[in-house]
Amino acid sequence: MTNRLRLGVNIDHVATIRNARGESYPDPARAAEIALQAGADGITAHLREDRRHISDADIDALAALTRRRGRPLNLEMAVTEEMRAIALAHRPHAACLVPERREEVTTEGGLDVAGGHNRITPVVAALRQAGVRVSLFIEPTEIQVDAARLVGAQVVELHTGAYCLAVRESSARAIGLLAMLRAAAARAHGLGLEVHAGHGIDYETVAAVAAIHQVAELNIGHFLVGEAIFTGLDAAIRRMRTLMDAARASSASGEAAA
Ligand code: PXP
Repeated sequence: MTNRLRLGVNIDHVATIRNARGESYPDPARAAEIALQAGADGITAHLREDRRHISDADIDALAALTRRRGRPLNLEMAVTEEMRAIALAHRPHAACLVPERREEVTTEGGLDVAGGHNRITPVVAALRQAGVRVSLFIEPTEIQVDAARLVGAQVVELHTGAYCLAVRESSARAIGLLAMLRAAAARAHGLGLEVHAGHGIDYETVAAVAAIHQVAELNIGHFLVGEAIFTGLDAAIRRMRTLMDAARASSASGEAAA
């Protein structure tokens, strides 16, 4: 499979920096514009219940920008009535349903689709009916992949956080966690789901994830915004794009040779 891997750039933490001082800068929409020029295929933003980073006004601006530029906006959202209403009002290209806990620093685990299907199914149906492509952010396990298919999602985004952390900590667990990501991607693809991956990806971890040929899209944010401090956002995204494309090309040539 030689399909090009898409990159969604998550600009949440541009808003985190802005909100740290209660100022109007840096502007996430400006970051989104730069990201698109640097090779991002789409923009991802998480409107959290507590609005700790992205605000409702940011979503308005990002929706307008991505519409103008003809690029997809992927709205990350909790499975709540409030977020469902906001998503239906904006009708972004895609919505990624994520678990959310107020006390967490970031989205710590995947959505328990298997345990929460009664709550999730109607939200998936409403979004799909409005023409929104629905993705579920899940742990890379068979039970969650199968449940995602059952509730009617078109896409699963596999949580790469545990794998990326294990690599950074040089933990032997990394090998097993990568094997789980590969198996989940293969299973989801086999069930007809589009496969995305994200969380915690940096220059060191991107290649192994990008080489999983069933993965169609990566969503990357925190590392890129951090790296932008040193190299600029444009250069950080271009480097990530190059690493992704190189990993995908070498995995494709390995498959062809096999
Ligand atoms: N994908 C999802 C569903 C997420 O919740 C996040 C974090 O907001 C990301 C990708 C991006 O993760 P990171 O900011 O660690 O790159």
